[in-house]
Amino acid sequence: MSPPLPAFLLLISIAFTSASAVPLQPGFYAETCPEAEFIVKDVMRRNMIREPRSAASSGGPDWEVKLGREDSLTASQEDANNIMPSPRANASLLMDLFESYNLSVKDMVALSGSHSIGQARCFSIVFRLYNQSGSGKPDPTIEARYKEKLNRLCPLGGDENVTGDLDATPTMFDNRYFKDLVAGRGFLNSDQTLYTFPETRKYVALFSQDQRTFFKAFVEGMIKMGDLQSGRPGEIRSNCRMVNRRPVNALLES
Ligand code: HEM
Repeated sequence: MSPPLPAFLLLISIAFTSASAVPLQPGFYAETCPEAEFIVKDVMRRNMIREPRSAASSGGPDWEVKLGREDSLTASQEDANNIMPSPRANASLLMDLFESYNLSVKDMVALSGSHSIGQARCFSIVFRLYNQSGSGKPDPTIEARYKEKLNRLCPLGGDENVTGDLDATPTMFDNRYFKDLVAGRGFLNSDQTLYTFPETRKYVALFSQDQRTFFKAFVEGMIKMGDLQSGRPGEIRSNCRMVNRRPVNALLES
């Protein structure tokens, strides 16, 4: 299965640090490619209709996206593994990771609220269902009835590509995700741990009670995450999955 698009977007966002080569800004393509924003919206709309998991997604805040980001000239599995947060991670690890990109604990909890929509594979949770931290036992923080449901969805030795909802309203961007965490019904270990740790728990509680505060913090986090850049040279890829082809002499020089 190819990685989910939002997780991929997170990857390219956090792959970068703050130094900026070209300042990102709304309307970046206004003169050089006035149709750019329309084309992107149109392609997204068509793909959302084609993709059943996103077709009905609705709700959530909006904000002005800063444009002008360039694609990397290289690709590295190792770099990706080093910065992609693991679904097994605990809140302490996640706080350190986000902090290394100048994202606060509040940003991290709010951004995790993106799991208000979408699904994840059994692959990402079998360890917490059957062998949490090598204990041979399940994660004790999973609420009993929810655990029964997860055990049926992801039996030991079953198909790990089966997917389950990340919260109880997986097509609505709302604060249900945080209410579920308070009730011990988080899907991923990295979700539920946000309620187990005191530093993150207070934000989970706050967002579970106040959707407007969650949306505001989410927008702030997305803007901060979107501002991250590496300062390294880049390009606009003709196929976003691979670097552009270069003439042999350019390759020899680089
Ligand atoms: C806090 C650390 C995070 C961890 C450990 C994490 C981990 C994951 C994992 C393991 C999946 C499911 C992948 C699979 O099983 O195929 C997933 C899905 C998803 N992630 Fe995250 N993620 C994190 C943060 C984020 C952030 C910051 C965003 C966006 C702002 C995000 C957006 C999503 C979405 C929307 C999905 C559902 C994709 C789908 O339905 O296809 N995640 N995440």
